[in-house]
Amino acid sequence: MRIVLATGNAGKIREFSDMLGPFGFEFVPQSEFGIEPPEETGETFEDNALLKARHAAALSGLPAMADDSGLEVDALGGAPGVRSARYAGEGAGDLANIKKLLEAMQAVPEAARSARFRCVIALARTADDPSPAFGRGIWEGVILRSPRGHGGFGYDPVFSPRGETRSVAELAAAEKHAQSHRGSALRDLHARLRSA
Ligand code: IMP
Repeated sequence: MRIVLATGNAGKIREFSDMLGPFGFEFVPQSEFGIEPPEETGETFEDNALLKARHAAALSGLPAMADDSGLEVDALGGAPGVRSARYAGEGAGDLANIKKLLEAMQAVPEAARSARFRCVIALARTADDPSPAFGRGIWEGVILRSPRGHGGFGYDPVFSPRGETRSVAELAAAEKHAQSHRGSALRDLHARLRSA
Protein backbone atom coordinates (compact mmCIF):
# COMPACT_ATOMS: atom_id res chain seq x y z
CA MET A 1 0.00 0.00 0.00
CA ARG A 2 1.21 3.51 -0.84
CA ILE A 3 0.86 6.12 1.92
CA VAL A 4 1.52 9.83 1.48
CA LEU A 5 3.86 11.34 4.05
CA ALA A 6 2.30 14.74 4.76
CA THR A 7 5.27 16.83 5.81
CA GLY A 8 7.51 19.34 4.11
CA ASN A 9 10.06 19.40 6.97
CA ALA A 10 13.33 17.93 5.64
CA GLY A 11 14.43 16.78 9.13
CA LYS A 12 11.19 14.87 9.65
CA ILE A 13 11.26 13.32 6.16
CA ARG A 14 14.78 12.03 6.88
CA GLU A 15 13.76 10.55 10.23
CA PHE A 16 10.57 8.95 8.91
CA SER A 17 12.43 7.42 5.95
CA ASP A 18 14.96 5.93 8.41
CA MET A 19 12.25 4.54 10.67
CA LEU A 20 9.58 3.44 8.21
CA GLY A 21 11.63 0.87 6.29
CA PRO A 22 10.49 -2.16 8.32
CA PHE A 23 6.78 -1.29 8.14
CA GLY A 24 6.21 -2.79 4.71
CA PHE A 25 4.40 0.22 3.24
CA GLU A 26 5.65 2.49 0.50
CA PHE A 27 5.80 6.06 1.80
CA VAL A 28 5.74 8.91 -0.73
CA PRO A 29 6.46 12.50 0.37
CA GLN A 30 3.58 14.87 -0.43
CA SER A 31 5.98 17.03 -2.47
CA GLU A 32 5.96 14.26 -5.12
CA PHE A 33 2.27 15.08 -5.69
CA GLY A 34 2.99 18.83 -5.72
CA ILE A 35 1.07 19.20 -2.43
CA GLU A 36 1.89 22.33 -0.41
CA PRO A 37 1.49 22.09 3.40
CA PRO A 38 -1.76 23.65 4.72
CA GLU A 39 -1.79 26.41 7.34
CA GLU A 40 -1.54 24.86 10.82
CA THR A 41 -4.57 26.45 12.45
CA GLY A 42 -5.17 23.84 15.18
CA GLU A 43 -4.66 24.49 18.88
CA THR A 44 -3.46 20.95 19.66
CA PHE A 45 -0.92 18.53 18.18
CA GLU A 46 -3.84 16.16 17.39
CA ASP A 47 -5.75 18.85 15.46
CA ASN A 48 -2.73 19.85 13.40
CA ALA A 49 -1.58 16.28 12.65
CA LEU A 50 -5.07 15.35 11.44
CA LEU A 51 -5.50 18.56 9.44
CA LYS A 52 -2.24 17.83 7.57
CA ALA A 53 -3.12 14.16 6.97
CA ARG A 54 -6.64 14.97 5.69
CA HIS A 55 -5.27 17.69 3.40
CA ALA A 56 -2.74 15.31 1.80
CA ALA A 57 -5.33 12.50 1.49
CA ALA A 58 -7.77 14.90 -0.21
CA LEU A 59 -5.23 16.10 -2.77
CA SER A 60 -3.57 12.73 -3.49
CA GLY A 61 -6.53 10.34 -3.24
CA LEU A 62 -4.31 8.05 -1.14
CA PRO A 63 -4.10 7.32 2.61
CA ALA A 64 -1.91 9.93 4.31
CA MET A 65 0.14 10.11 7.48
CA ALA A 66 1.28 13.32 9.20
CA ASP A 67 2.95 14.21 12.45
CA ASP A 68 2.67 17.34 14.51
CA SER A 69 5.32 17.79 17.12
CA GLY A 70 6.94 20.40 19.31
CA LEU A 71 8.79 21.34 22.44
CA GLU A 72 7.03 22.14 25.74
CA VAL A 73 9.17 24.04 28.26
CA ASP A 74 7.84 24.06 31.85
CA ALA A 75 9.47 27.39 32.81
CA LEU A 76 7.69 28.98 29.81
CA GLY A 77 4.25 27.60 30.70
CA GLY A 78 4.45 24.93 27.95
CA ALA A 79 5.65 27.27 25.16
CA PRO A 80 6.57 27.06 22.34
CA GLY A 81 4.27 23.96 22.07
CA VAL A 82 2.27 23.78 18.83
CA ARG A 83 4.06 26.96 17.71
CA SER A 84 7.56 25.43 17.97
CA ALA A 85 8.30 25.73 14.23
CA ARG A 86 7.37 29.43 14.19
CA TYR A 87 8.42 30.46 17.73
CA ALA A 88 10.68 33.31 16.50
CA GLY A 89 8.15 34.32 13.82
CA GLU A 90 6.48 32.93 10.68
CA GLY A 91 9.11 31.22 8.51
CA ALA A 92 11.76 31.42 11.27
CA GLY A 93 14.67 29.00 10.94
CA ASP A 94 16.03 26.63 13.60
CA LEU A 95 18.82 29.04 14.63
CA ALA A 96 16.42 31.93 15.26
CA ASN A 97 14.06 29.69 17.26
CA ILE A 98 16.95 28.37 19.40
CA LYS A 99 18.25 31.91 20.00
CA LYS A 100 14.84 33.08 21.19
CA LEU A 101 14.48 30.05 23.46
CA LEU A 102 17.90 30.47 25.08
CA GLU A 103 17.21 34.16 25.69
CA ALA A 104 13.86 33.37 27.31
CA MET A 105 15.59 30.75 29.51
CA GLN A 106 18.62 32.86 30.50
CA ALA A 107 17.55 33.48 34.10
CA VAL A 108 16.07 30.00 34.64
CA PRO A 109 18.20 27.88 37.06
CA GLU A 110 19.29 24.30 36.30
CA ALA A 111 16.62 22.71 38.49
CA ALA A 112 13.81 24.44 36.59
CA ARG A 113 14.91 23.74 32.99
CA SER A 114 12.70 20.68 32.41
CA ALA A 115 11.04 20.26 29.00
CA ARG A 116 9.64 17.60 26.71
CA PHE A 117 9.20 16.90 23.03
CA ARG A 118 5.74 15.70 22.05
CA CYS A 119 4.69 14.03 18.82
CA VAL A 120 1.28 13.00 17.54
CA ILE A 121 1.03 11.04 14.29
CA ALA A 122 -2.31 10.83 12.46
CA LEU A 123 -3.20 8.35 9.73
CA ALA A 124 -6.21 9.25 7.56
CA ARG A 125 -7.23 6.46 5.18
CA THR A 126 -9.34 8.95 3.19
CA ALA A 127 -9.84 12.72 3.40
CA ASP A 128 -13.05 12.27 5.42
CA ASP A 129 -11.98 9.13 7.32
CA PRO A 130 -14.45 9.05 10.28
CA SER A 131 -12.00 7.14 12.52
CA PRO A 132 -8.43 8.20 11.82
CA ALA A 133 -5.69 6.38 13.76
CA PHE A 134 -3.32 8.21 16.13
CA GLY A 135 0.04 7.41 17.72
CA ARG A 136 1.57 9.50 20.51
CA GLY A 137 5.07 9.88 21.96
CA ILE A 138 6.80 12.00 24.63
CA TRP A 139 10.54 12.55 25.31
CA GLU A 140 11.48 14.17 28.64
CA GLY A 141 14.66 16.20 29.15
CA VAL A 142 16.15 19.61 29.95
CA ILE A 143 17.06 22.75 28.03
CA LEU A 144 20.83 23.33 27.84
CA ARG A 145 22.48 26.76 28.19
CA SER A 146 24.09 26.72 24.73
CA PRO A 147 23.77 24.64 21.52
CA ARG A 148 25.85 21.43 21.22
CA GLY A 149 26.34 19.03 18.30
CA HIS A 150 25.44 19.03 14.63
CA GLY A 151 22.98 16.13 14.12
CA GLY A 152 19.19 16.13 13.92
CA PHE A 153 17.17 19.30 13.37
CA GLY A 154 15.07 21.90 15.18
CA TYR A 155 15.80 22.23 18.90
CA ASP A 156 18.03 19.10 19.04
CA PRO A 157 21.25 21.06 19.92
CA VAL A 158 19.68 22.55 23.08
CA PHE A 159 17.68 19.54 24.36
CA SER A 160 19.34 16.88 26.51
CA PRO A 161 17.17 13.80 27.21
CA ARG A 162 16.65 12.67 30.81
CA GLY A 163 19.55 10.42 31.90
CA GLU A 164 21.85 11.78 29.15
CA THR A 165 24.71 14.26 29.30
CA ARG A 166 24.70 14.81 25.52
CA SER A 167 22.34 16.96 23.48
CA VAL A 168 20.12 15.17 20.94
CA ALA A 169 22.27 16.70 18.19
CA GLU A 170 25.22 14.73 19.64
CA LEU A 171 23.37 11.37 19.44
CA ALA A 172 23.69 9.03 16.45
CA ALA A 173 20.49 8.98 14.35
CA ALA A 174 19.68 5.42 15.44
CA GLU A 175 20.08 6.40 19.12
CA LYS A 176 17.65 9.27 18.61
CA HIS A 177 15.04 7.09 16.85
CA ALA A 178 15.18 4.47 19.62
CA GLN A 179 14.19 7.02 22.29
CA SER A 180 12.56 9.98 20.57
CA HIS A 181 8.98 11.22 20.75
CA ARG A 182 8.66 10.54 16.98
CA GLY A 183 9.99 6.98 17.29
CA SER A 184 7.63 6.30 20.23
CA ALA A 185 4.64 7.78 18.38
CA LEU A 186 5.36 5.61 15.35
CA ARG A 187 5.65 2.46 17.49
CA ASP A 188 2.41 3.43 19.28
CA LEU A 189 0.58 3.89 15.95
CA HIS A 190 1.96 0.60 14.64
CA ALA A 191 0.81 -1.29 17.77
CA ARG A 192 -2.69 0.23 17.50
CA LEU A 193 -3.01 -0.67 13.82
CA ARG A 194 -1.90 -4.23 14.51
CA SER A 195 -4.43 -4.70 17.31
CA ALA A 196 -7.30 -3.06 15.34
P1 IMP B 1 5.46 21.05 13.03
O1 IMP B 1 5.13 19.71 13.62
O2 IMP B 1 5.73 20.96 11.57
O3 IMP B 1 4.48 22.10 13.43
O4 IMP B 1 6.87 21.53 13.60
C1 IMP B 1 7.40 21.00 14.75
C2 IMP B 1 8.60 21.82 15.20
O5 IMP B 1 8.94 21.35 16.51
C3 IMP B 1 9.85 21.61 14.36
O6 IMP B 1 9.97 22.57 13.33
C4 IMP B 1 10.95 21.77 15.39
O7 IMP B 1 11.21 23.12 15.63
C5 IMP B 1 10.32 21.17 16.64
N1 IMP B 1 10.61 19.73 16.70
C6 IMP B 1 9.75 18.70 16.50
N2 IMP B 1 10.38 17.52 16.60
C7 IMP B 1 11.67 17.81 16.84
C8 IMP B 1 12.82 16.99 17.00
O8 IMP B 1 12.81 15.75 16.91
N3 IMP B 1 13.97 17.65 17.27
C9 IMP B 1 14.04 19.02 17.37
N4 IMP B 1 13.00 19.82 17.18
C10 IMP B 1 11.81 19.22 16.92
